[in-house]
Amino acid sequence: MNSRIPSTCPASDIPTETLSTPSAVHSAGGFSTRAIHLGYEPQDHHGALVPPIYATATFAFPDAAYGGRCFAGEEAGHFYTRISNPTLALLETRMASLEQGAGAVAFGSGMGAITATLWTMLTPGDELISDITLYGCTFSFFNHGLSRFGVKVRYIDMADLDAVEQALSEHTEKRRVLYFESPANPNMRLVDIAAVCTLAKQHAAKVVVDNTYCTPYLQLPLTMGAHAVVHSATKYLGGHGDLTAGIAVFADAELAMNVRLYGLKDMTGAVMSAQDAHLVMRGLKTLSLRLDRHCDSAETIAKVLEAHTITDKVCYPGLASFAQHELATRQMKCYGGMIAFELKGGMQAGIRFMDALRLVTRAVSLGDAESLAQHPASMTHSTYTPEQRAAHGISDGLIRLSVGLEDVQDILADLQQALDQVAMS
Ligand SMILES: Cc1ncc(COP(=O)(O)O)c(C=O)c1O
Repeated sequence: MNSRIPSTCPASDIPTETLSTPSAVHSAGGFSTRAIHLGYEPQDHHGALVPPIYATATFAFPDAAYGGRCFAGEEAGHFYTRISNPTLALLETRMASLEQGAGAVAFGSGMGAITATLWTMLTPGDELISDITLYGCTFSFFNHGLSRFGVKVRYIDMADLDAVEQALSEHTEKRRVLYFESPANPNMRLVDIAAVCTLAKQHAAKVVVDNTYCTPYLQLPLTMGAHAVVHSATKYLGGHGDLTAGIAVFADAELAMNVRLYGLKDMTGAVMSAQDAHLVMRGLKTLSLRLDRHCDSAETIAKVLEAHTITDKVCYPGLASFAQHELATRQMKCYGGMIAFELKGGMQAGIRFMDALRLVTRAVSLGDAESLAQHPASMTHSTYTPEQRAAHGISDGLIRLSVGLEDVQDILADLQQALDQVAMS
């Protein structure tokens, strides 16, 4: 195994008081400081304030012996971008630090991160225990990918810790990996990350958490005992809707290296481009600012939605009425920018609401500057059968709203007029 690829540095939450020298400024500090500076020293790059984009597929060897040492894992150089690239390596260093992990691997999409991580962690005969509510393509990958290659996939309600304990008590002869999103896409159900990780540890199982909805600014699953965190960096991390990207971060450097060498290099080839790595790093610089705004606006909007007569139920972790409000307050720094709400009137009401929107854009994806609304039953979760949707708590009238960065009064005005139109029809 090539253990010398200069991909990531060990994560550290280095206290701000250690920022005494110029070079320390670039390797320490709080969340936003590290998101902006970590791992980069302008003076090493002709003074360039912004890290260069290494737009290259391959890297020249100074001599044949050096090339041989790279392939033998004896040299810490970059030699082919599908394995490592300096621009990607800087992003990986920053993400490893922000998630407080030991290593990170960048991918061309969130699905690249999820598939490469699980293809590496699981072999035929193993069991994947997954939460019942998942992003539609992840659900599809479990059913049409993993299960076709001898991995047993079992769905349980991970909000129910007794169900988790029960599942872990069975098939103890198998290797088990637990997988969940918290909050889950699309209905915002939470999983108690620390409690599930404690149970997994007792039963020698591994835990993978999709942290796309929160980002490390709002939630740190690795500090709660998870082994891996996966992201669609297409969402809040990139933050501007102009790229597709994924990142996986690992508590253990050896697992990170295995995912790089097998999951990325050999099994999926789902590498991120250097240009996209540059854009994700640009997104990271404003992540905390953007999320503060997303959270504030979403909290205001959730309360207004809850008061409207046409909504049946509003799922937002910040609402006192949210069933897991106490858990959200415990494990999230703030309640996020995503809201799910159910309209009275099912499928027809859902579609009517979508068509009535003027400012809020009808689009899948989330975490962008633009507010986006989608109708899971006819869009992202149409890969579920109607029975599966019902069992997984995705009602036909459910709307998923990604609250953007526009003026909150303008977003509210648009939602209000669309709700009123549904109510009058
Ligand atoms: C929670 C979650 N995980 C993973 C993905 C997949 O990410 P990507 O579209 O970047 O492949 C998505 C996409 O919407 C998502 O919402």
